[in-house]
Amino acid sequence: MVRVGIIGLGWMGQLHAGYLKHVRGASLTAVCDRDQNVLTVVANTHGVLPFTEYKDLIACEEVDAIYIVTPQKYHYEIMIEALASGKHILCEKPLALTRDEISSLRDLAKKSKAKIIVDFPERFVISTQESVDLIEQGAVGDIQFIRANFRFSMKNHHQTHGAWVFDRSQGGGLILESSVHLWDMIRWVSKQEIVSVSAVAHNHKDGQFEDCFAAIAYLDKGGIVMVDMSGWLPKESATDKRMEIIGSDGAVYIDEFRNVLTIHSEKGVENNPGMITTGMTHKDLLWHSSIEGGVKRLNQYFIDCINDDVTVHPNIEDGARATEITWAILASLKSGKMEMVEYGN
Ligand SMILES: NC(=O)c1ccc[n+]([C@@H]2O[C@H](COP(=O)([O-])OP(=O)(O)OC[C@H]3O[C@@H](n4cnc5c(N)ncnc54)[C@H](O)[C@@H]3O)[C@@H](O)[C@H]2O)c1
Repeated sequence: MVRVGIIGLGWMGQLHAGYLKHVRGASLTAVCDRDQNVLTVVANTHGVLPFTEYKDLIACEEVDAIYIVTPQKYHYEIMIEALASGKHILCEKPLALTRDEISSLRDLAKKSKAKIIVDFPERFVISTQESVDLIEQGAVGDIQFIRANFRFSMKNHHQTHGAWVFDRSQGGGLILESSVHLWDMIRWVSKQEIVSVSAVAHNHKDGQFEDCFAAIAYLDKGGIVMVDMSGWLPKESATDKRMEIIGSDGAVYIDEFRNVLTIHSEKGVENNPGMITTGMTHKDLLWHSSIEGGVKRLNQYFIDCINDDVTVHPNIEDGARATEITWAILASLKSGKMEMVEYGN
């Protein structure tokens, strides 16, 4: 049984806590938050040990795996302490805020024997997993073009998240906080790296972060990528995350929040091959998405990797690369030019 402790009990930390109940081989034993009210409520709800200081949770003998679910400006300092403990780690994205931080996390992770995962739940979306299988089997041939979008409503964010989400200097905003999901998906699906990127963005009214942006990029084999994001959907709108992968022999379209996978080939068009979709409710469909089932399935996968002692992905390198792409986007916004992505090692 892997005993889990969660640091940071906001929107995402509470989601992990809820899903861990349904994960085989894991039990939540401890939680930590600086906010005493939140801490008391969550610790009582789950009947687990409460800590206000993350160092105490990391040192707790009843914790084998540490989940770092604080805002990103704290990821680095908590990761350093967690890596020193030798315990297994789930770290939220984006991994960290500076090149120096990411460089030292890369070094320390290489020396660590612990299992370390970065939380990109898109890799556990059923339609995306199916599309990766299809692409590996040659369904699209050589990838020439990828388009991906991520749209949601930020209008209630001030109620559901801390103020950091509206502040780029703390890792907030669509580019740093959210687009890492798309860049990781693109790297994972294409098995290629993003080489260079050019972007435009629309600043939110106070200028602390962007509420819409679009980027074009090159893949390392010359294919083109287009990514766009907006936080301006109406409050009650469903999240809209889609991806289209077009290659020399066909195309695969993924509509994550509707769980639709469409394959275009010379033989015609096929939707969700082999899947029975009649009678599914909207809730069923959400369960296939990253936030509902994806986070739960990522948790199950991580715990299984610990129990079975097998290699974990997405790892620190994946977390680092997705973050480094977002920095190239910011550099492009500043320079007005296409920027090379500077990957550390
Ligand atoms: N993987 C995903 O799909 C996904 C989705 C949403 C958010 N996230 C990530 O999860 C992290 C948390 O996001 P959120 O939306 O839950 O944030 P939030 O603002 O809702 O909650 C953050 C919580 O962390 C606590 N906290 C802050 N500093 C702390 C510290 N030093 N020690 C202990 N507790 C501390 C705060 O009191 C708060 O309760 C961020 O890195 C975010 O990018 C990931």
